[in-house]
Amino acid sequence: MQLPDNFHIAVIMDGNGRWGEIHKKNRVAGHEAGMNRVGELFDESTKLGIRHLTLFAFSTENWKRSSFEVNGLMRIFREYIKRESAKILGENVRVKFIGDKAAFSKDLIAMMISLEDQTKENTGLQLNVAMNYGGHDEILRATRKLLAQNIAPEDLTKELFENALDTAGTPPVDLLVRTSGEQRISNFLLWQAAYAELYFTDTLWPDFDANELKKSIAYYNERTRRFGGN
Ligand code: IPE
Ligand code: IPE
Ligand code: MG
Repeated sequence: MQLPDNFHIAVIMDGNGRWGEIHKKNRVAGHEAGMNRVGELFDESTKLGIRHLTLFAFSTENWKRSSFEVNGLMRIFREYIKRESAKILGENVRVKFIGDKAAFSKDLIAMMISLEDQTKENTGLQLNVAMNYGGHDEILRATRKLLAQNIAPEDLTKELFENALDTAGTPPVDLLVRTSGEQRISNFLLWQAAYAELYFTDTLWPDFDANELKKSIAYYNERTRRFGGN
């Protein structure tokens, strides 16, 4: 499968709740099933030579959900980091959490920072996990950071702005995948996905397997990217 160098794929992992309701009558069970798909996705991404993978795990708006669901998700995030850290380290994956960590409990923040620290020298797949992430919030936080540095308006460049975003150092998104049939961005990577190719599938996230990933890349390979040129 042909892929450009430094390929960046971003995934809105949607449809866990519906999957849980259909199969187990419980949305949190759907999140568990969804979590169990993530390892397969990064294994396959590594095999395909994808350099950058960004996964939308929890949005700044997802706090609006019931406390049962939010608490269930927090338990699943903890379990995931505990369970998968060894695999992540062994596979040379570099993990970065994007989004505002401050909203999470102290122990979860410590786990996220520790995984980032332990993997920061890894040279394989660069895995960004978006947690309490919103495109608006990220742009606002970046703007605040720049204002605090007293940057003169005329000195602000696209590069400086991009370096203040959570994704600093990551190339723009080439392919944005959304599962579950919804065709919207839902506040994900608003800056970074400016010229991304968009791929939507009706498959619910817990059913999204390696073959589905390959289908999305085949779709990407059929596109002609123009970036406003002709
Ligand atoms: C995506 O699945 C995961 C999170 C938002 C945390 P959903 O929970 O949004 O699943 P649906 O869209 O309700 O089926
Ligand atoms: C986007 O899905 C967030 C994640 C997948 C983490 P949502 O389910 O929250 O988005 P909407 O509400 O359908 O737009
Ligand atoms: Mg959803």
